[in-house]
Amino acid sequence: MVSENTPNWKYLLSDIDFDEHENKAVLDVLNAKWLSMGPKTKEFEKDFSSYAEVPFALATANCTTALHMALISLGIGKGDEVIVPSLTFVATSNAVLYTGAKPVFADIVSLNYPLIDPNDIEKKITQQTKAIIVMHYAGYPCDMDQITALAKKHNLFIIEDAAHAVGSYYGERMCGTIGDIGCFSFFANKNLPVGEGGMLVTRDKGIHQRATLLRSHGMTSLTWDRARGHAHSYDVVDLGYNYRPTEICAAIGLAQLKKLPENNLKRNDIFAEYIKSLSSNDHIMLPFSGTAAGDRYARHLFPIILKENINRESFIMKMREYNIQTSIHYPPVHKFSFYQSILQEYQAQDLNNTEAYGRRVITLPMHHMLTKDDVREICQCVELSLDANS
Ligand SMILES: Cc1ncc(COP(=O)(O)O)c(C=O)c1O
Repeated sequence: MVSENTPNWKYLLSDIDFDEHENKAVLDVLNAKWLSMGPKTKEFEKDFSSYAEVPFALATANCTTALHMALISLGIGKGDEVIVPSLTFVATSNAVLYTGAKPVFADIVSLNYPLIDPNDIEKKITQQTKAIIVMHYAGYPCDMDQITALAKKHNLFIIEDAAHAVGSYYGERMCGTIGDIGCFSFFANKNLPVGEGGMLVTRDKGIHQRATLLRSHGMTSLTWDRARGHAHSYDVVDLGYNYRPTEICAAIGLAQLKKLPENNLKRNDIFAEYIKSLSSNDHIMLPFSGTAAGDRYARHLFPIILKENINRESFIMKMREYNIQTSIHYPPVHKFSFYQSILQEYQAQDLNNTEAYGRRVITLPMHHMLTKDDVREICQCVELSLDANS
């Protein structure tokens, strides 16, 4: 339910289709009266690991906690450096800071290909570098061949922040399953929304075991095991956290996972319609416009880049008059006051493409419930808002 002060959006940036499946799934959990991590969570992990074709999947409270556990499981901490994009949600680099390690920011390739630049990654590698976190922005895979080669050459771990990329493929493999660990988000605005939720995936049994302990205070048995009579006590063998998901979120996740492949395909059609309607407009650039509509991408966001002479604030306000929600994904992380305050190096950082992108990007509504007519109407409003601005 939206509050009374929320604008009366005709087109939301993201939207959710819950029906009798999610309703029943939640009611089943309520009727079973087991609310914290338990059988639904196990089932969600099992279904997600088969969907992603990866042996181990661990459901978490959200993607931020998955990223934090990923770093700890790889032994990353104080004195280490982790290379991350600055064009990302702040959770990516915050997770590095939680461990005491230092996030080192790398630039994106270009405004048209706004994904972490392997050449800049290489320039940022030092003796202290332990890992690279890639982020598959908007659901488009980073250049994993080059990044994997770099990681091999310099003996670095790769963590994939796949918050945008559930169902995106790089060749034959789903994003999140290529590096050492992949982390997914099921936040309310994601392609697989459950409210708050995440998943850590890996092919490494040891990492899975360590993350399983970290998720629940390093305890050797869970409340669920004890309720089933499988254990009556526990030891604590690691410094862990409460990063557990709830059964309600797992049940919603199971229902949404069944709909995901079809929903992602619909996003492809919406993407194609946007490209068709906007590609001849001289006032904007369309990142990823060269990707084929049939490619297997999650297409989580639809970003456009305004030409330098367009005033972004006025454009946003004009779109708001048409009741169309837009957003900015993302203000560069290294520019945030907090980041500027913790390290002088971030003040002098030279990330030209990321900064230009952050100044000029707008994201338009993108979700599987939009029709082609909706997209055409949004695009007409984009044209009108640009005309009013130039
Ligand atoms: C790229 C990226 N990484 C990490 C996160 C954190 O996810 P969560 O909100 O599930 O912790 C998000 C969420 O918006 C995100 O977009």
